[in-house]
Amino acid sequence: MSSTLEIQSPPRIAPSWLARYQAVRTQSTALCAPLLPEDTVVQPMIDVSPPKWHLAHTTWFWETFLLREYAPGYQVFHPEYAFLFNSYYNSLGSRVNRADRGTLSRPALADVLAYRNHVDAALAALLAKPHELPATFFELLELGLQHEQQHQELLATDIKYILSTSPLAPAYLPISEKANVQAAAPVASATWLPVPGGICRVGFQEEGFCFDNELPAHDVLVAPFELQNRLVTNADYLAFMEAGGYRDFRFWMGEGWDLLQAEGWTAPLYWVQKAGGWYRFTHHGLLAVDPAAPVTHVSFYEADAYANWAGARLPTEAEWETAACHFNATPEGGTWLESNALDPQPLPADADPSACHQLLGDCWEWTYSAYHAYPGYSRAAGALGEYNGKFMVNQLVLRGGSCATPENHIRISYRNFFHADKRWQFTGIRLAR
Ligand code: AVJ
Ligand code: FE
Repeated sequence: MSSTLEIQSPPRIAPSWLARYQAVRTQSTALCAPLLPEDTVVQPMIDVSPPKWHLAHTTWFWETFLLREYAPGYQVFHPEYAFLFNSYYNSLGSRVNRADRGTLSRPALADVLAYRNHVDAALAALLAKPHELPATFFELLELGLQHEQQHQELLATDIKYILSTSPLAPAYLPISEKANVQAAAPVASATWLPVPGGICRVGFQEEGFCFDNELPAHDVLVAPFELQNRLVTNADYLAFMEAGGYRDFRFWMGEGWDLLQAEGWTAPLYWVQKAGGWYRFTHHGLLAVDPAAPVTHVSFYEADAYANWAGARLPTEAEWETAACHFNATPEGGTWLESNALDPQPLPADADPSACHQLLGDCWEWTYSAYHAYPGYSRAAGALGEYNGKFMVNQLVLRGGSCATPENHIRISYRNFFHADKRWQFTGIRLAR
């Protein structure tokens, strides 16, 4: 029995909607603060959007789905902005082609920031009288916040790609203490952890927000399997590279092998070989590859080839979710956007070998599951039905969030999705067998 007084922690007061709105909006502009105006305009490849476009598109989302619907007498900031900053909503008409987002020197970044202020003022005025707003407004408000957070991750990864194309290898941020643990630390050894199978319930079953693609929750049959206790490291992946992994078609999907040859892939995206060994472009400039850190910026094809070489496989998304529940994965201890490390971090060598680490945060984990609708899924009516549902073909599911994901954005049931060839997100590898 302790003789000290047990102090009750004060009740946690949920931040107001306005405070949450302002915090999320500020985070987007803060992410762009280290950039030059010129950095915010270019689109070096089709998957990357200019930061200026992200800042405007997220603003257009608020204007279109909330202000135009719920703010009486709202005046749009500019009548052409809907054409410029609609991303992919056919319901809302024609728009600038995705590939042309980087040709727009106008509106200037300053105009986009004024657009943000205009919309923020109108939203704040609405939120000053929350009792006059219907419940559907607050559902859209939540969606708008989650949407802007998705674009914060895209901002972080697109900024990295944009700066990487400069021969000057500019640093977005000076290297942080946390990211500066180069090469010294030993690698925590990988172990296999059994996960009991059975009839497992997957999908969102909690209170609160989820995207429509996490619904409906449903039962799946999962055979018992084993999951590795940590992400695959750069040292692990270098062993694959040095064993000729990129030169042996036997490990590769046919499409992946063709792409490797067409693109001349010999290493993950951003890796460069110099006299001293392998380096990688990061948000902190060019750094030596840290053997202990999780490998990142690999395509599904590379993740799958690595797994084949290692005599293992990638988990399915149902296995991943079952394991995350089984091991009580929490966001705590993971590396998230807020850390500013902007790189997955090594697992300390003394980490508990019987626990499953890095399930949430650090790297999105490729699964061997197609991004398909859950049984019983239906698209919402109207433009927002285009948000997730129309992409449910030809992409793969990734789980767990990354060092570019805002920490409070993730859930165990969260389904991210990209095509198998994509490498510019913080994607990594978790083995199953
Ligand atoms: C879930 C990351 C694939 O990049 O289009 C942003 C996120 N959806 N705006 C994407 C998203 C609508 C989406 N991903
Ligand atoms: Fe969007």
